[in-house]
Amino acid sequence: MSLLDVLSQESQVALPEKYREMSREEMEKRVAEIKEYFGDKLFIPGHHYQKDEVIQFADVKGDSLQLAQVAAQNEKAEFIVFCGVHFMAETADILTNDNQKVILPDLRAGCSMADMANIHQTELAWKVMQDQFGDTIIPLTYVNSTADIKAFVGKYGGATVTSSNAKEMVEWALSEKERILFLPDQHLGRNTAYDLGIQLHEMAVWDPINEQFECDGKLEDAKVILWKGHCSVHENFTVANIEHLRETNPNMNIIVHPECSWEVVQKSDYNGSTKNIIETIKQAPAGSEWAIGTEMNLVKRIIQEHPDKNIVSLNPNMCPCLTMNRIDIEHLLWSLELLKDGEVKNVIQVNEETAKLATLALERMLERA
Ligand code: 13P
Ligand code: SF4
Repeated sequence: MSLLDVLSQESQVALPEKYREMSREEMEKRVAEIKEYFGDKLFIPGHHYQKDEVIQFADVKGDSLQLAQVAAQNEKAEFIVFCGVHFMAETADILTNDNQKVILPDLRAGCSMADMANIHQTELAWKVMQDQFGDTIIPLTYVNSTADIKAFVGKYGGATVTSSNAKEMVEWALSEKERILFLPDQHLGRNTAYDLGIQLHEMAVWDPINEQFECDGKLEDAKVILWKGHCSVHENFTVANIEHLRETNPNMNIIVHPECSWEVVQKSDYNGSTKNIIETIKQAPAGSEWAIGTEMNLVKRIIQEHPDKNIVSLNPNMCPCLTMNRIDIEHLLWSLELLKDGEVKNVIQVNEETAKLATLALERMLERA
């Protein structure tokens, strides 16, 4: 379900007024009590981009790969209240048993990148690519995609990837077929392929809006076809941000997420997944200086956790991911209180056929991750 589909079901998303009037202390107390009440029957995974007010209650916090892995391993919890965005909750539903229910506290917590590839566009693109390249292409999708896209990829022999394992997965895909279709994030695809020695002229872009290829080299030489999608958060880190910082503070190390553009990644000192950024800063010596190019809730937390280092956001005007921020303590408490009253609302359930095919794509990744 895309964000637009969700927004059309407005009645499902109206938070009762009482939660707006409740104090933070009261809400925190109630969440803690309900967690205690359910014990192992309730599991709250939280993505690193979630707000502090929410992440403090996560049983496990992680990046997309870690959260997919813990969902696959958890067999005890009856209710999984997912603090993240819609595609992550879908992945958790696909990887858990039928008797486990996955709940997203606010259905408006979508991902604009995932919505940049819908199944109709993808089927059309695939047909064009089959006509162009024959049976020489394998699809790979970033987990930041809808269940329909994961199912499509599973059906055609491909796999999911996350920013933590994109390199291994692209290498695997290129050992299976001559070329890959990488969707929906052109930047992660381009940065990963380039790291593996594939030149920019060996990559083409598929524009799903205008239904055409964009290519500097010869299309028939393309080893990687990148879907023209991007993250609206990470695209806000620019080469100008880096040039400004190099001028004003040449001692700063710059580390960015590979969802940033190729130009930004090339001009940075390091790039890595969410987990990699967290680990790099943890291991850096006291007194070192860092500018980080990733989501702002996480950057603020990293700053708080490392008072011995000088850390800033690469873009000083950066905001958090708006859809990640839809999950606030009000919505978390509301969904937990409904559960306690026996009302299971905002359940994310992927239909059986889609889930079966999407599992193929996810398992091809998890067995290699
Ligand atoms: P990772 O968790 O794989 O680093 O992905 C970042 C992201 O944008 C999640 O929405
Ligand atoms: Fe989607 Fe980007 Fe937000 Fe991640 S940070 S949920 S990719 S919009």
